[in-house]
Amino acid sequence: MNRTVERIGLAALRRFDPETAHAMALRALRSGLAVAPGPVTSDRLKTDIAGMAVPNPIGIAAGFDKNAESTAALSQCGIGFVEAGAATPLPQPGNPKPRLFRLTEDAAAINRFGFNNDGMHAIGARLRAARSNIPVGINLGANKTSDDRAADFATVMAHLGGDVSFATVNVSSPNTEKLRDLQGPAALAALLDGVMQVRGNTPVFLKIAPDLSASEIADLAVVARDTGVDAIIATNTTVSREGLRSPHAAQAGGLSGQPLFERATRVLAQLSTQTDIPLIGVGGVGSAEQAYAKIRAGASAVQLYTALVYGGLSLVTDIVRGLDDLLARDGFASVSEAVGTGRDAWL
Ligand code: FNR
Repeated sequence: MNRTVERIGLAALRRFDPETAHAMALRALRSGLAVAPGPVTSDRLKTDIAGMAVPNPIGIAAGFDKNAESTAALSQCGIGFVEAGAATPLPQPGNPKPRLFRLTEDAAAINRFGFNNDGMHAIGARLRAARSNIPVGINLGANKTSDDRAADFATVMAHLGGDVSFATVNVSSPNTEKLRDLQGPAALAALLDGVMQVRGNTPVFLKIAPDLSASEIADLAVVARDTGVDAIIATNTTVSREGLRSPHAAQAGGLSGQPLFERATRVLAQLSTQTDIPLIGVGGVGSAEQAYAKIRAGASAVQLYTALVYGGLSLVTDIVRGLDDLLARDGFASVSEAVGTGRDAWL
């Protein structure tokens, strides 16, 4: 598919409600209708995230391929790694529709999906069958009706850990009531200990919210270190509604996209002053300059989701190639050399 066709496709998809449009886009991707250059790489772009080698540092964030139906196709779209899920132990329908809103004027989205997914058994079968030449991770979630949500994370880890390159403990989604309470230091330490006991050799990442205070960030960094977390992903969606213009601004849920960029990058930079654990920067990335800013703020790698809704998957290739140019312009021989070099601007 060339870019003109992609633009026409995106315009057509905008006529559908966003959830239907996303399902259609994933179906088109699986049937080979996507810009697919294969993983884009160079000596400058090759790097590693907590020891996991990636051809470039740009990944697809959790929630894009919730059910791991399209990981093989996505791995051909120029990205360096992909995170599927969230997966919960049992399948669950999530919140009532509509639950995904485009905020076009703000280049943003609000979602309140609430971990709709096919469950770890179906997702595990797909992960085992998928062929991918880049690292594929899984985002771990808890069932809404679970009596012991912390235990759900360990259950999914035990079931899927052997089939993925990394697994992310996601206690930062705003769409499952009280889930974020598990970010408190004592609750989080217990949850992570449970996950670590069953992880085998699989790296465990922790994903945090952008709505944390400086002292909460400092506490999380200590828990992450003490429990042996391999990388921290900053950040998930925000409950803030600052500065929005779209008529959908008042919808309940998590806000993603451009308005999240500054907030999430500040949390990332703040976190990088508190820990030596590798960080992955997410939130509002829609250009090579923004991906580069996350790296210079302290991220070893970057993820994105919402910008792809507006720009299509070919945006990934533009960002990866643009990042390579920016690194070259500033005299960096590798991504890792640039990590944290611009942090002070965000503190
Ligand atoms: C998400 N995100 C998300 N995160 C997570 O850890 N588990 C999940 O299941 C989901 N699901 C999800 C669904 C939808 C529709 C969106 C838009 C987002 C959050 C996502 O991974 C990312 O952290 C934020 O969206 C911020 O990045 P962008 O979108 O601004 O690039």
